[in-house]
This record gives sequence, structure tokens and C-alpha cells, in this order.
Amino acid sequence: MEFVDFRDERRHHGTRLEKTGEADVAALENLWDDGVADGLDEPGRLLYRSNLLGSDKRITNYGGGNTSAKVEMKDPLGGETATVLWVKGSGGDVGTMKLDGFATLYMDRLERLRGLYGGEAQEDEMVGYLPHCTFALNPRAASIDTPLHAYLPYRHVDHMHPDAVIAIAATENSRALTREVYGDEIGWLPWRRPGFQLGLDLSRFAAEHPDAKGVVLGGHGLFTWGDTARDCYETTLRVINKAIAWFERATAGKDVFGGRQVDALPPPDRRAVAARLMPAIRGLIGRDERKVGHFDDGDAVLEFVCSADLKPLAALGTSCPDHFLRTKIRPLVLDFDPAAGDLDALIQGLPAAIGAYRDDYARYYERCRHPDSPPMRDANAVVYLVPGVGMITFARDKATARIASEFYVNAINVMRGAATVDAYRGLPEQEAFDIEYWLLEEAKLRRMPRPRSLAGRVALVTGGAGGIGRAVAGRLLREGACVVLADVDGGALRATEGDLARAFGKDQVRSVEVDVTDEAAVRDGFAAACAELGGLDILVSNAGISSSAPVEDTALSMWSRNMDILATGYFLVAREAFRLFRAQGLGGSVVFVASKNGLAASPGAAAYCTAKAAEIHLARCLALEGAAAGIRVNTVNPDAVLRGSKIWTGEWREQRAAAYGLRLDELEAHYRDRSLLKRSVYPEDVAEAVCFLASDAAAKSTGNIVNVDAGNAQSFTR
Ligand SMILES: NC(=O)c1ccc[n+]([C@@H]2O[C@H](COP(=O)([O-])OP(=O)(O)OC[C@H]3O[C@@H](n4cnc5c(N)ncnc54)[C@H](O)[C@@H]3O)[C@@H](O)[C@H]2O)c1
Ligand SMILES: [Zn+2]
Repeated sequence: MEFVDFRDERRHHGTRLEKTGEADVAALENLWDDGVADGLDEPGRLLYRSNLLGSDKRITNYGGGNTSAKVEMKDPLGGETATVLWVKGSGGDVGTMKLDGFATLYMDRLERLRGLYGGEAQEDEMVGYLPHCTFALNPRAASIDTPLHAYLPYRHVDHMHPDAVIAIAATENSRALTREVYGDEIGWLPWRRPGFQLGLDLSRFAAEHPDAKGVVLGGHGLFTWGDTARDCYETTLRVINKAIAWFERATAGKDVFGGRQVDALPPPDRRAVAARLMPAIRGLIGRDERKVGHFDDGDAVLEFVCSADLKPLAALGTSCPDHFLRTKIRPLVLDFDPAAGDLDALIQGLPAAIGAYRDDYARYYERCRHPDSPPMRDANAVVYLVPGVGMITFARDKATARIASEFYVNAINVMRGAATVDAYRGLPEQEAFDIEYWLLEEAKLRRMPRPRSLAGRVALVTGGAGGIGRAVAGRLLREGACVVLADVDGGALRATEGDLARAFGKDQVRSVEVDVTDEAAVRDGFAAACAELGGLDILVSNAGISSSAPVEDTALSMWSRNMDILATGYFLVAREAFRLFRAQGLGGSVVFVASKNGLAASPGAAAYCTAKAAEIHLARCLALEGAAAGIRVNTVNPDAVLRGSKIWTGEWREQRAAAYGLRLDELEAHYRDRSLLKRSVYPEDVAEAVCFLASDAAAKSTGNIVNVDAGNAQSFTR
């Protein structure tokens, strides 16, 4: 069994050092290329700068921070010149955004807003005025950070969330530390929620300190500015590099996180723990809304989860509001001694640990709520830390779980710096609450589209690299499921995964090379799926072959091969799914792709037909056994799916043609004309039936058979 991983190589986390002569220097490289930039207009250069900055996670986290430029433009109506603020709009990520990700606003109108602002009680109201400043009917909504850019008297402004600078911003003596690292070049402002008032604070600071190049915002991040796009970019890099280099020196030779408390398990053991633990957690937190998991055991995570200060530091929560919104108020640290390795005890202790976290969260909500606060949201932790093993995150989809994990790595980097040189400070609880339950944030959540029918579900499709398997995977992906393709054909598997990842996103698709007749490989394949996505809801058993021969010419090897792959293979994957479904406790859905030939005998294919009949009866037995646990088992019987099927490219096609006395190119028409509806059956037709049975639309169906054969009286079921 081999796990195939198609995701991007990890972006940088933590500090990379490059040797240059004697000294180690921090290595944020200047990537500015005048050859590119000079050919662009001012908005183009802003986009260029933004994408460069966002390409390195040490500069800013995913979706975090924003950039702006004040550009002279022609008013679309009057034709006169207006100064327009281009600033990253609501949502999006500076690293991957396009030009349409910027909001554009008239500067003179933004200036008039100053006169409307009467104090902090009006913060939320001011957000409502921003659309009135829109330039050229730009539909991109301006973000709440807009005033932070508008009122700084500089053409170009960067607001970034660099781990190294947040580490300064999240210390108890943040102001003094800023001065120590930067002298007069960079100022400091205390924590304040982003909005109009913070914009005015920045404006005042700039007026009073005309030589400053930027500001550290307590508990938040960095502002830097410049007269040209290049100037601003280079200042941002220089300021961050200074912090990285300073921390390198200040932490050198020091015990990080209070030193190591436990040793990390070896990598395969860590994944084995994750594979068992994740479905158990998922079962306890995924009842109301299914969740997808992510596991990270990178160096930054391991150093933290093996450390003496894991519990006290984790309890302080994260500092930067971005980190916090994605990872919840604090992570859940599970009790586990990797040296003893008692995984059963860890799993038995989960209900109590998760229950305590939920109670704690409810108390936090009650302590901090305002009369008009939105109702309490899901009280479960997002981040689970396991000593010696790593970090598990769960969210409503894979991308959100992965990003939460990346954000907590940012938070670990921040704590690493801050706690080593000073005392680390999380965001004050009430501030954290006010951001989490901000009415504007609630409005944003309400605007989100309704989740698709299989959102948060994980499906494993055997024979996923074949014709029907690929169509099934695509159909489930279209409903929002994450899909693990399992197949014995490595080349076809990688090609299919690549295609589906391009169509549906890399986060949604995984593949695992597995021979369904190999007991150990099946077990490992399911474990790999669990460690990758956190559990399983749907199994589509579809891997298959075909063979054709009169019974007297059927070699034992041919008979056994049909039995092994079709009957035994279906048994092995279904057994593994049952074990997993029971451990997870969320029910489950199994769909067998059998065949019309399992119901209706066909000439010269006794081995295949008999093995397919065994599948159908196995499904009925399993439906009986699984019902009490909410596990449904149903069968789809395709017939004559020639297009896209590999089965129909080889001998089988020739043998079938021979059996009916037809030419090869007459076969499709033969099957079509033989059907009651006189129609050809395609992989997508089979996928539709599989998707129905896999989803909650078929919640009341088990032990059933759906024929997808364009009608065939011989296979009518009773
Ligand atoms: N195409 C049809 O007309 C038709 C009709 C009735 C039933 N079926 C059934 O539909 C299913 C899918 O068939 P298809 O038409 O997509 O064929 P296909 O050959 O295109 O796909 C089958 C896939 O199963 C994989 N596979 C074979 N042995 C395996 C093993 N031991 N372990 C893991 N993977 C293995 C193959 O590599 C292939 O990718 C099969 O079970 C088949 O019997 C197909
Ligand atoms: Zn910010």
C-alpha cells in the first residue's frame, strides 16, 4: 500500500536560515523585478506586490493582511482626475488574489467620513458608509480594514501578519520590545479592534512621527508604508527580516517552550495514532454537522506538543485575531503519554475531554455575551493537540481544516518567539469574544451559500481509477464530498486524482494504491484515508474485472480471480468500513456496484456472474447486520456501460462479441437495442444511482437494488 500525495509542497513555516559567510542571516528574499513591475500600471504593481508578499507564509498568513495604493484615475462620468484608494477587499488572500479582489474608493469621500464619525459606539455604523465611497461601481465590498489604509498619508501601505512581528506584538512588554528591535523606525500602538478608530489612531501616529516607516499593532500585526510600490515592498521585507534575525539571536541556545517533556513517536506510529484517534473524535463532534479532519506532525508542531509548556501556553489562546477566528478561543490538549502509548485509554477518555471543552466554551460564551450577541455557535474545539503525536484539526470542509491547522502553526511560531524572550500574551477574552461574535461577522456567515448535500462527508471509492469509479467520484465531489480513490492501477490512479483535483480542488481528493484482495493493504488503505481526512461516511465498492469463457474452459485460476476480486474483495473492504463506521458511531452508507449479471445469467461468463451474485447477497447480509448501527448497504446493477470502461477495451469486448456473433463495433448498438428503453447506459448514469444511495436522500433505504441498465425484464427484482 502506498499513499499518493498530490498536494503542493508545504509553504514555509518558521524561519529558514541561509549561510552567507560567517553569519546566519534571515532569508526573506527580495523578489522584486523591475523588468516585470515597470511594465505594469499602478494597480498592476499593487497586485504584483501583493502576490509577492502573500507567496511566503512568514510574511502573512493565508487570507491575512491587506495592501493598498492611492492612485490618480479618471472619473468615469466627469473625466476629471480623482484620487482612488485601491485596497484589498473583503475576503480573499493577498497571495492568490487577482485585480478584482481590490475594492476601489474615492479618497475625497473617505475623507468626508471623518466628519460623520462621532466615536467608538459608531464603529459598526461606519462600515455601512463605505459602499457610498465606491469608485466606478466596483462590486468588491470594502473590508473593515479600509480606514487603516485610507487615513495614512502615504501612497502605498502594507498590513501584514508576519509570525516574527506578531511574536513581538504578543509579548507582555510589546512596546518596549518594539523599541528594542526597531528603535525610532517603527512605532507601536496598543491593541484595538480594526475599524474607523484604529484608522484615526494610525493617521495621528503618522502625523506625529513623520520619519517612521511603520507601526507594530499590539496583539495583531504590522503596518508599513512607502512612496512607491517597490519602496513599500522592500520596507515590509526589511522590517520583517529584522524581527526574524532578532529572534534568531535572542532565542539561540535557550530552552524553547520550557524544554522537551516527551519524545515524539516515530512517523508511522504518529500516523497510526491519528488514523484511530481522528474517527473517534469525529464521531463525538460530527453528529450535528459532519466535519473533515487534517493531521499535521511537522517539526514546528512536534516541538510544541512535546514540550513542557504545552498545556499552560495552549490555555492562553492565540493572539492575532486572524489566528483566533480560525482556531477558536483555544485548542484542546489531550492527555497522552507517548512512551506508554495507551491508545485505548486515550480514546476512552475522549468523551470526557470533549465534553469538558464544550462546557468550558459555553461558560466563555455566557461570561462574554452581550444582550444582542448571536446565539452560541458549535462549542467543539477546532484544534486537538496530542503529546508526542501532532495536531489534528476538524472543520466543515477539508480546506477549512487545513487552513485552521496552518493558522495554529502560525500561532505556535508566535508563542515560540514571544514566550522565549518575554511572557506571551493571548488576546483578552472579551476582545476575542467580541470578534468571534461580531454582528458583522455573523452577517457574513448568514450570507454563506447553503452547504451541498454531501458537504463534510468522506467517501472511499474502490476501482476509482476506472470508468464507473471516476464518474462516481466526480458525482460525489460535485455534492461536496471528499473522495479517496482506491485502485490497484497506480498510473491510472494518479492521472484520475490529478484530473479530479483540477476540477474540484486539491483539498477534496486523495488517492491510495490498494489491491482489494490483500487484507493488510485494505486495512492500511482505510487507515491512510482516516489520517488524511479524519474518518469515513461512504464506501463505494466498485473495483472489478471481467472474464468470459464456457464453463468447461474456465480455468480454476480464472474462477478464483473473479471470486478474489469481486466476492472476497467486496467482503474485505466492506468489513473494514463496518469496523470504522462502528468506531466512529455516525452510521454509514455502503454501495456495491454489482452487475445485471448478478441477477440474470449470461452465456459463457459463469465465474463473473457467480461472483457478482455473491456480491448482491453479501450486500443483503450486511444490510441486516448494519441496520441497528445506522449503516445502510445497497446495490447498483449496471449493464453494458461500454463508454469509458476499461473492462470493455480488452478481451471481454471480443469475447462478448463472439458470444453474440457480432462485430466489435456492433456491440454498443446491440446492447442498446436489447434494452427496454432502447438507450445506452453511461458511467454518469450509474454514478447518479450510487450518489442517491450514498446520500441522505436514501436515508430510509437499505438492502435495496437499483438497476441502471436501460430496462431488462430478466433482472426485474422482486
Ligand atoms: N462496464 C460495464 O458494462 C459494467 C457492467 C456491470 C457491472 N460493472 C461493474 O462496474 C465496476 C466498475 O467497472 P468499470 O466498467 O468501471 O471497469 P474499469 O475496468 O474501467 O474499472 C475497474 C477498476 O477496478 C480496478 N481494479 C481491478 N482489480 C482491482 C483490485 N484487485 N484492487 C483494486 N482495484 C482493482 C481497475 O484497476 C480499474 O481501474 C466493476 O465492478 C464491474 O464489474 C461494469
Ligand atoms: Zn490584520
